[in-house]
Amino acid sequence: MVASEATPFAKTGGLADVLGALPAALQERGERVAVVIPAYRENRYPQPTREAYRDLFIPIGTGYRVDILETTDHDVTYYFVRCPALYDRDGIYGAAGIDFPDNHLRFAVLSLAALGVARHLFPADLLHLHDWQAALAPVYLREYFRGDPTFRRVKSLLTIHNLGYQGIFGPKVASELGLDPRWITPEQPGFPGDVNFLKAGIAWSDAISTVSKGYAREIQTPEYGFGLDRFLRKHGPIMGIVNGVDYTQWSPEHDPHIARNYSATDLSGKRACKRAILAEYGLPHDNLDRPLAAIVSRFASQKGFDILADAAPRLLQEDLDLVVLGSGDPVYEKMFHALARAYPDQVGVQVGYDDPLSHRIEAGGDIFLMPSQYEPCGLNQIYSLKYGTVPVVRATGGLDDTIDKDTGFKFRDYSGDALLESVRLALKAFQNKEQWARRMKRCMEKDFSWNASAGEYVELYRRLAPG
Ligand code: ADP
Ligand code: GLC
Repeated sequence: MVASEATPFAKTGGLADVLGALPAALQERGERVAVVIPAYRENRYPQPTREAYRDLFIPIGTGYRVDILETTDHDVTYYFVRCPALYDRDGIYGAAGIDFPDNHLRFAVLSLAALGVARHLFPADLLHLHDWQAALAPVYLREYFRGDPTFRRVKSLLTIHNLGYQGIFGPKVASELGLDPRWITPEQPGFPGDVNFLKAGIAWSDAISTVSKGYAREIQTPEYGFGLDRFLRKHGPIMGIVNGVDYTQWSPEHDPHIARNYSATDLSGKRACKRAILAEYGLPHDNLDRPLAAIVSRFASQKGFDILADAAPRLLQEDLDLVVLGSGDPVYEKMFHALARAYPDQVGVQVGYDDPLSHRIEAGGDIFLMPSQYEPCGLNQIYSLKYGTVPVVRATGGLDDTIDKDTGFKFRDYSGDALLESVRLALKAFQNKEQWARRMKRCMEKDFSWNASAGEYVELYRRLAPG
């Protein structure tokens, strides 16, 4: 597998969670999996690493020499591409909200280094590539290594975790990346002459998947296709395999980050968690019967904060508190800070990235809000189920697939009104304590462990690379 992030080493969002858990689930089913990611400055290495290969030459741009580090986590081999000129800096994709100007090189080098790993260290029969950062691998595989016996039978699968990020760069980068521009700009109105990593990956891979069945359907429509719907229909079928979650990390029974552990059979600890998170956010915590809504999210337009902003003044007339953790687009950081200032006793906001706090919020909340404009899969709503924190979600992509009326509340229209109506239904349901407790238990009993989805991936791998 090739990707730009993986827990526990480097993470900005759900992609890392997938790369931290799916490989281990595959290993348990008897597959042999290795993962290749960059060696960023901020990588955390809980286990020692060793240098597995030195001075691999990558013949693009001005030419790079990279080293490959290696470690093992849950029986999975993780390889890290060490190239200080490209990765030893603050930030994974950029700094202060601005993408690094050489991201095309940074991630093209990742793909070529991964092919180097497959040749020298981990002979593979399948390359499973995740998102645009890994999407040039199949192009290089076919165009650079066409006659190479190592790669003759190697197949490639591209998984799209988010079509909103395609890796689009001006036409000039083609020669820097060693690409013939004609290879990477198959006809598609709207993208004249650009180098589009994801689109190239879609065209060159042997198969394409995405992270829920709903999103697989949606991205083939103009509304959700980000300009690639027609192209995707042409290069389909697009398989939808829903993400699982790692319950060793996300479960209130043994989560080390939360105030008190609890379970579906004994919910008492959840009240302690609620009191603790309200106190941590400096909100009144004497009345635990008042519902607490929660948000943990990247701050991006995808996540539906425009309609939340629209609904907020009416929402906060309700008997309800709100705690928020997130970071990203400064527009939304400002929006949430303004809400906290306007409703100091009701709204608490933390801007930043804080994994233990995200666990404490999941445990302390009554309701989890995800009004996403689009959501390929979404993991936080699935974590929320396990913590008995009832999701209120927009019915799109993976949110629609993973939440039903027995567990959460869904609305369809992308509007503040629809969101508000859905939250009001949740608040009404919250008033009936017994019924709410039964709903929480139904949520907590849902099983989205990786096992089933890993099985679907294995089937797909076998179809592609039967050997
Ligand atoms: P996306 O990948 O689009 O961001 P997901 O719901 O799939 O959405 O995954 C988000 C992951 O990132 C979850 O594990 C969530 O807890 C984590 N996360 C997002 N923002 C933060 C934050 N500010 N602090 C800690 N964890 C965060
Ligand atoms: C993306 C999507 C999110 C998905 C995650 C992991 O970041 O936005 O919906 O859960 O990838 O697949």
